[in-house]
Amino acid sequence: MAYLVADVVSAGTLTGSPQPTLAADGLTLRPWRSADLPAVVAAYADPAIQQWHCRTMDESEAADWLAAWPGRWRTESGAGWAVTSPDDEVVGQIGLRTISLPAGFAEISYWVLPACRGRRIAARALSALTTWALGSLGLHRLELRHSMVNTASCRVATRAGYAAEGVQRSALLHPDGWHDMHLHAVVSC
Ligand SMILES: CC(C)(COP(=O)(O)OP(=O)(O)OC[C@H]1O[C@@H](n2cnc3c(N)ncnc32)[C@H](O)[C@@H]1OP(=O)(O)O)[C@@H](O)C(=O)NCCC(=O)NCCS
Repeated sequence: MAYLVADVVSAGTLTGSPQPTLAADGLTLRPWRSADLPAVVAAYADPAIQQWHCRTMDESEAADWLAAWPGRWRTESGAGWAVTSPDDEVVGQIGLRTISLPAGFAEISYWVLPACRGRRIAARALSALTTWALGSLGLHRLELRHSMVNTASCRVATRAGYAAEGVQRSALLHPDGWHDMHLHAVVSC
């Protein structure tokens, strides 16, 4: 029995090259470094990041989180970038939290450190990552989901060109219970 659909992106496409650094309208998306640990710990101490990313992170867990990204690139299962200011301060994170190269699909995650919010950092990072993922990498569809009450994330998605596709009822368990999730996606032409 032959499979009738070719892989959208060939296995080995990510692992065959180093993780790129991407320019993002005054920001930089670069691979994580172990020295970024204090920024990651500070991020997961923020109640909003805990609420929407459903976890806390102590120093040891943050070190493991940072150390896991190269392996996820090698296994082509995920990819994470530090979002940095012109002086290389970490201001946020953006990543492909799941990737399926054969299906040409990935799902996006992002947060911005509380002190850095209000400058459309997430939308600028998301636009840059989207251009790379649909263009250079060759994925076909990128999705992101946010709780229906996370209005800021909805604005980020819309500003970066992710069309709203509908509401997934009671779809994700958060620390305060089940949330209806708003699905956004962008597809390549
Ligand atoms: C969502 C998040 C990444 C956005 O950070 P940011 O890039 O600094 O976003 P900004 O503060 O510049 O706001 C982006 C947009 O949301 C709007 N916004 C921000 N806070 C808002 C709020 N509480 N209510 C309504 N709109 C809000 C802004 O007005 C702006 O809209 P505009 O682009 O139309 O002007 C950040 O708030 C965050 O990290 N939140 C916690 C984690 C999280 O929610 N992650 C996403 C999970 S899906």
